[in-house]
Amino acid sequence: VAPLKVGIAGLGTVGAEVVRLIETQARVLAGRSGRGIRVVAVTARSKAKKRDVDLRGVEWARDPMALATHPGIDCFVELMGGASDPALSAVEAALNAGKSVVTANKALLAKHGIKLAKSAEKHGGALNFEAAVGAAIPVIKTLREGLAGTGVNRVYGILNGTCNYILTRMEQEGLSFAECLKDAQRLGYAEANPSFDVDGHDTAQKLAILASLAFGTKVAQSAVYVEGISSIAPEDLRAASDLGYRVKLLGVAVRTAKGIEQRVHPTMVPKSSSIAQVMGVTNAVTIDGEGIPPITLVGPGAGGAATASAVVADIADVARGIRANPFGRPIAQLRDTKKAPMERH
Ligand code: HSE
Repeated sequence: VAPLKVGIAGLGTVGAEVVRLIETQARVLAGRSGRGIRVVAVTARSKAKKRDVDLRGVEWARDPMALATHPGIDCFVELMGGASDPALSAVEAALNAGKSVVTANKALLAKHGIKLAKSAEKHGGALNFEAAVGAAIPVIKTLREGLAGTGVNRVYGILNGTCNYILTRMEQEGLSFAECLKDAQRLGYAEANPSFDVDGHDTAQKLAILASLAFGTKVAQSAVYVEGISSIAPEDLRAASDLGYRVKLLGVAVRTAKGIEQRVHPTMVPKSSSIAQVMGVTNAVTIDGEGIPPITLVGPGAGGAATASAVVADIADVARGIRANPFGRPIAQLRDTKKAPMERH
């Protein structure tokens, strides 16, 4: 069988790690996929930047659009980020050309996911985005495949590694918000514009994607109530601690009789609770399914290696010829998201 020919747009921490994994894990991947995976072309803002990966023999495409429509690739991997162009038009063009797309871009999916899934449906390509939520944690697959036969009533958790890292270090070391954020940026956890992290929008985008998969509704980021952590000081965390609590930025989506309630805000959680034990860049997602006890997935939620791991798994699915409905069911079956009024919990 001919190898799957991959084009990668964006060679930052994640993109470079994807190239490296495809090379170092080649045998394992070929075994699992039944065929080889080959990076044939790439594009990035800077060609000259030093990257610790071997790009010999790989073609440099002129720009993301040229790569997306490149006749020599089967699978377009979008790792540029951002909800608008160039990511949006490149992903659309690749799908419209019948190619499969793998992306880690939660902003793009939260805003244009349904439109893009429609293109994928129409032209037959896959649209895989495991890395968009919880990085290496297979939460998309769990909701889409693992719980395909179970109704979900609630999905919630810690979905932003940067915020949890900041809150953890502020609490444990009494450091300032600004200092912790700087470290999160240095470690490659934060978004290019870190206000997406600390103002809660990154969590809102991920929550909107999870809610769509959980409840069979259309992704609706605008229906999420959002409050971030930027006004929290070490004293607030100390005061919460004196009362036996820890502060976590939670994303919560609940099915109610009045519609879907989606909210993101700092929450005091009892120190004895399992969610309070989730520290640092770790994410945790709990899914309350009908008739079964809750399922919690915990793991690395940000960083180059963790994100690349999910991207490569998605590419392997494309190589195997697995094509899931991006949001769990055909687009025509997804209901509109009815926003529930906020209840006190
Ligand atoms: N900035 C994100 C986070 C990256 O900190 O969780 C992973 O989506």
